Order: sequence, then structure tokens, then C-alpha cells
Amino acid sequence: MVVDKKILYSGIQPTGIMTIGNYIGAVSNWAKMQDEYNCIFGLADLHAITVRQDPIEYRKRATSFFAQILACGLNVEKSIVYFQSHVHQHTELQWILNCYAYVGEMQRMTQFKDKSAKHEENINMGLLDYPVLMAADILLYRADLVPVGIDQKQHIEITRDIACRFNSIYGDTFTVPDGYFPTLGAKINGLQTPTAKMGKSDADPDNAVSIIDEPDVIMRKFRKAVTDCDRKVKFDLSEKPGISNLLTIMSALTGTPICELENDFANADYKTFKEAVGSVVVESFKPVRENYARYISDKSHLQQIASLGAERASYEAEKTLTKVKRRIGLVDKARRTIVAVEK
Ligand code: TYM
Repeated sequence: MVVDKKILYSGIQPTGIMTIGNYIGAVSNWAKMQDEYNCIFGLADLHAITVRQDPIEYRKRATSFFAQILACGLNVEKSIVYFQSHVHQHTELQWILNCYAYVGEMQRMTQFKDKSAKHEENINMGLLDYPVLMAADILLYRADLVPVGIDQKQHIEITRDIACRFNSIYGDTFTVPDGYFPTLGAKINGLQTPTAKMGKSDADPDNAVSIIDEPDVIMRKFRKAVTDCDRKVKFDLSEKPGISNLLTIMSALTGTPICELENDFANADYKTFKEAVGSVVVESFKPVRENYARYISDKSHLQQIASLGAERASYEAEKTLTKVKRRIGLVDKARRTIVAVEK
């Protein structure tokens, strides 16, 4: 890693489909920040097993997600891109951090409450411990900045709390990271339920748009997007959540301010506006679709990228883990600490 650059870490779980919400809220910023920061991006495949996965499907989906994040413009010459499960230090640090995280604070996490309500039959320990694994992901790489959507804010806060708690006991060990939330698009909502986040695993396939959906599918989903009966293209979150969400998507992808878009579509009907947003999405993701087709058709290249990423990530992770183990008084394998104790 380049010495005078700050470190950026982020990750994504390979569940459901990778949506335009994931792209606008997080992944597009990953690609943009690669020159300014030392970047490390993890495919959080251990996080995703808190929900039951079919092994064959899961392997396919994780590979596809890996190809999709690369297709969004990650440059493996500059950034470290890897599968979380290839770097054993994540779970090792998670165990240590578990001893500095409290059950009560984990039970209060919104995502834990939501997921336990959704998967009543499988409220496993992993679901409760999920934020500690995420803290381990971030803290292992001494990240200064973590670009995420707004739904991850609580997880960043708990990461900071755990890091500060540990540092206050053992002295400066972890870098306390800052979250980075985009000013526009930190929460893209569903096309059918515009008051709630566009989720990766939405039951209604028309609610979410995948970054690799075919153009005709994208257009169909946008034509069906829920709006209101007012017929005015205007940003108003409480009265017009559907139109506001579409304006946000269009503005985030084109860089045109929302007020300008309101003017451009002042005389347009909703059908014209929805088709225009659909066309912007089709065009914006054309290079991603093309890159993806290239990556996914060459599995041995993907394997090489993953192996190199894991090796580089593991090297960085081990530095932090060794330091943490020394701080808490574990006997060092490499240094002669047993001999030192005898003396
Ligand atoms: P995940 O996989 O749910 O989502 C990946 C990223 O996409 C953002 N996001 C959204 N942004 C805007 N609008 C939406 N509708 C939307 N949906 C999702 C998320 O905020 C996230 O930034 N726990 C994480 C993965 C993770 C991670 C990490 C992230 C594991 N370890 C370490 C950062 C650092 C998650 O489930 O994201």
C-alpha cells in the first residue's frame, strides 16, 4: 500500500441481486475513490451465511457478485479485491472483539431486530454477532474511511465504539474509522415501495433493479414504477416518494441537480418521465453489463484476481492481528515471549 495515502475499506454481501441502490449508495463511490485512497474491498461471503444459502447456488452467486463489483470499475492493480472467507484473520479478530462487545448493544441493532423478525425460525448467533464481524473487517485494515449507504450507519458507529473501547484499555491500537455517506443516493428506495429501501432480496422482482438487468427488463420495471396521482415531476419526499426516488436515481447517475431535472420535466407526463429515467439507467449500466460479461466468461482470470487479492489482504490483516494479540497478552508464536516470561 502507498505510505502517504489514507486507507478505505468497504464490502458487500453476495445475497439476492446487486441493485442500482448498492451501486449508487456505495459501489460507484468505491470506484471513484481508488486514486485518492489505498482501497480494500471485501466480498462479505461470511456475513451472508447468517441466512441459509443453498451451497451450489451460493457459490455461483458469490462468483457473480465478485465479477459484478469488478465490472463496476474496480482496478485490481490499485485496489485489493478479495473474498472475506479467504482471509482467516477476519474471524480470528472477530472472536477477540467479541470479548469487547456487549450482548445488549448487539440486541439493540436495527438490522438484528429486522432480520430476527424476518427469519424467526433461524435467529442464529451469527445474526447477533454480525456487526462484530463487520467491525473486524474494517479494523483489520486500519481503515480511515468506510463508504456505505445510510443503512450501515449504526454498524459504523458500533465499530467506532468497539475500537475506542479497545484503545482505551490497551492504548492506541485501532484506527477509528469514519463512515462516508453520499449526499445524494445514500438510500435508494424500491420502485414498488418507494418509502422503503430497495433491497437485494425483495420478494417482488419489480421492486429492485439489478445492475446487470437487460435493457428491456430495466425499461419494464421503470414503466411500472409506483408514482402518485398528482402528475407533477417534483421532489417531495413525504407527498411524492415515488417521483422523488426516480429524481434521485436520475440525478445520481447523470450528475444533473434535481432542481434542473424538475425544470426539464416540468411539462412531461409521468410515462415520459419514467421512460426517461429507465433510459438513463440502461445507458449508465451499459459498460457495467459489458464488463460483467467479460469477467464472468473467464473464471480462471477471476480465480487469479481472487487469489492475489486474498494474499495481499491477508498480509495487511496479519499485521493488525499480531499487534492486537500482543496488546492483550497472548503468547507470541514468533517472538520468544515464553522464554521472556521464565526470566
Ligand atoms: P449490503 O451488502 O447490504 O450492501 C452493500 C452496500 O450497499 C449499500 N446499500 C444501499 N445504498 C443506497 N440505497 C440502497 N437501497 C442500498 N442498499 C444497500 C449498503 O449501505 C452497503 O454500503 N454489512 C454490509 C456489508 C459489509 C461491509 C463490511 C460494509 C460487510 N463488511 C465492512 C462496509 C465495511 C452489508 O450488508 O451491505
